Amino acid sequence: MQLISKPTQKEIKRAARALKDGNLVAFPTETVYGLGADAVNEKAVSRVYSVKGRPTDHPLIVHISSIRQLDNWAVHIPEFAIKLASEFWPGPMTLVLRRSPLAKDFITGGQNTVGLRVPNQILALALINEFEKLGGLGIAAPSANKFGAVSPTNIEAVKEELGNLLQTQDLILGGGQSTVGVESTIIDCTRAYPNVLRPGAITFEMIEKITGHINTLDLNQMKVRVPGLLNSHYSPKAQVVVGQNAAPGEGFIAFAHVPTPRGAIRLATPDNIEQFAYDLYSALRRADTLGIRKIVVVQPEGNGLAIAIRDRVNKASKT
Ligand code: TXA
Ligand code: MG
Repeated sequence: MQLISKPTQKEIKRAARALKDGNLVAFPTETVYGLGADAVNEKAVSRVYSVKGRPTDHPLIVHISSIRQLDNWAVHIPEFAIKLASEFWPGPMTLVLRRSPLAKDFITGGQNTVGLRVPNQILALALINEFEKLGGLGIAAPSANKFGAVSPTNIEAVKEELGNLLQTQDLILGGGQSTVGVESTIIDCTRAYPNVLRPGAITFEMIEKITGHINTLDLNQMKVRVPGLLNSHYSPKAQVVVGQNAAPGEGFIAFAHVPTPRGAIRLATPDNIEQFAYDLYSALRRADTLGIRKIVVVQPEGNGLAIAIRDRVNKASKT
């Protein structure tokens, strides 16, 4: 495995070639880092599953360069999905649509839908564009962490997660800290109205403003496999708890204005909700590095991005 922390255009071309040849390339996006594979190469995609230790019925998101690539991968695309894509791509939003024959079972986990996203990160877009120049159609990329663990938001975290599981020809590309910090909003577009399957930085309010509608499905009644239906997801080794006081020696994550309990170890001091999302995963990781056993999180209140943060913290707190 080769680690390139600030790839040049030439190195991005080389990475695109590596993908086309069936190797894996971890790369930055604005949400979290992804572990990429050629989305039409079954062998490469199966390596993504084995490296992550992820069950094969758990679908992958295909990353494309623009809305123009949608028709390759999806059919029967509703008007509201086009509106969302036009408004929020490139951006932290994944659309779940009826799949075209290109989206094989090994990408969709056997479901008849496919998840698609255009990331808003300069290096990710450059990589996808170079990949498409070589005839590539899309890069399948789950978050670059082992199954159930915290998603990486910088190159060091990717190395820590997957460094010794990757092979000689695989690459890890760096592009600084992910600016959003939590995974994309996933919107199911296969029904009459948009349904949010995973909250993120594209908020309910934003979706409603563009489409005039919003639903949140009862996830427990859904047959599709989405993150968080499983217990313990996005979890560090330390135990994550909410609504408790932090004792001396325990980790503490809260807005800067919340006083740190005596003896507790402050892991993040965000001033606003965007910063909370930006800092969250690094703070959870830092706890593990410091050997902290328990992390107390004071959840942000309100709507918007706070909903995504509470979702991830709640899932991290399940054991
Ligand atoms: O921000 C993100 O979405 C990041 C970056 C790398 O793009 N990716 C990411 O991928 O979070 P992953 O695999 O860790 O989580 C994506 C989730 C999967 O767990 C899966 O449940 C859901 O998206 N998903 C993918 N395709 C789906 C589909 N066709 N139907 C329902 N859920 C789907
Ligand atoms: Mg993930």
